[in-house]
Amino acid sequence: MNLSNKKVLITGGSSGIGLAFAKALSKEVKKVIICGRSEEKLNNVKAENPQLDIIRCDVSDRNDVERLHQTMTDQHPDLNMLINNAGVFQFYSFEKRNHTFEALEKEIEIDFVAPMRLIDKFLPDFMSKEEAAIVNVTSGLAFVPFSMAPVYCATKAGLHSYTESLREQLKNTNVSIYEMCPPLVDTPMTEKMPEAKGFKKENAEELASIFVKGLRNNKLEMRPKASSQLFTLRRFMSGKSVSMINKGNADMEYLYNES
Ligand SMILES: NC(=O)c1ccc[n+]([C@@H]2O[C@H](COP(=O)([O-])OP(=O)(O)OC[C@H]3O[C@@H](n4cnc5c(N)ncnc54)[C@H](OP(=O)(O)O)[C@@H]3O)[C@@H](O)[C@H]2O)c1
Repeated sequence: MNLSNKKVLITGGSSGIGLAFAKALSKEVKKVIICGRSEEKLNNVKAENPQLDIIRCDVSDRNDVERLHQTMTDQHPDLNMLINNAGVFQFYSFEKRNHTFEALEKEIEIDFVAPMRLIDKFLPDFMSKEEAAIVNVTSGLAFVPFSMAPVYCATKAGLHSYTESLREQLKNTNVSIYEMCPPLVDTPMTEKMPEAKGFKKENAEELASIFVKGLRNNKLEMRPKASSQLFTLRRFMSGKSVSMINKGNADMEYLYNES
């Protein structure tokens, strides 16, 4: 992909992976615009990274997404790349029932419905561009579920499948569909998680450089590091893969009280 002609919107760009992607891409593309819910977080990022444009938007709120789309159309009509990165990660025990069903619905809204809504809004504009791209950020957990986060893993598996259909349908168009499946990465999202055996927390900046290289080389599905192991595990040891990656969960039950 030619990055130099891209203007990029990254959802959830105010911390972690999204911020690392925004900083790395801002050296390669025409412009990067980030969004998030917290105005304070966005302003702090802007103070340290004046090259980034910021816009407040809760991607799970359809009116906010409508406003975001209108602002982009008015102020950035040359936008030609969308990175669906915003996400939340919640721990839910079916036994303890530590969440309301509304909280689970909210997680689905943010992690699954929002990328679909954003694609629905931006795709018609992108179809008229000379070249455009959409990136969905899923997870290695799209391939094998971490059972303490069942809703999260289901949304990522769903988004992985949706991305494949989208790519297949649009294969003869000017819009390329990418997927980044990060492994465990050291970000505010995973702050409370220990490094599980065999799954060390990767560095967000390193992931960003793998991402930029992958985009340049048209790598449509990126499964760096442990994500590629999870993919292989699921493929060749499907029956055992779920129990294998959930072996150490008893030591992490404190996480149920953290989300
Ligand atoms: N970290 C990992 O190990 C890991 C592994 C695999 C996949 N991922 C995926 O990578 C993506 C980024 O994760 P991260 O680790 O960088 O998390 P993070 O540090 O918690 O950052 C999440 C970002 O999303 C924003 N956000 C959350 N809900 C939002 C909403 N409703 N509307 C708009 N923005 C929202 C947050 O800002 P506000 O809170 O201000 O809204 C923040 O900018 C997620 O999709 C996650 O599932 C992460």
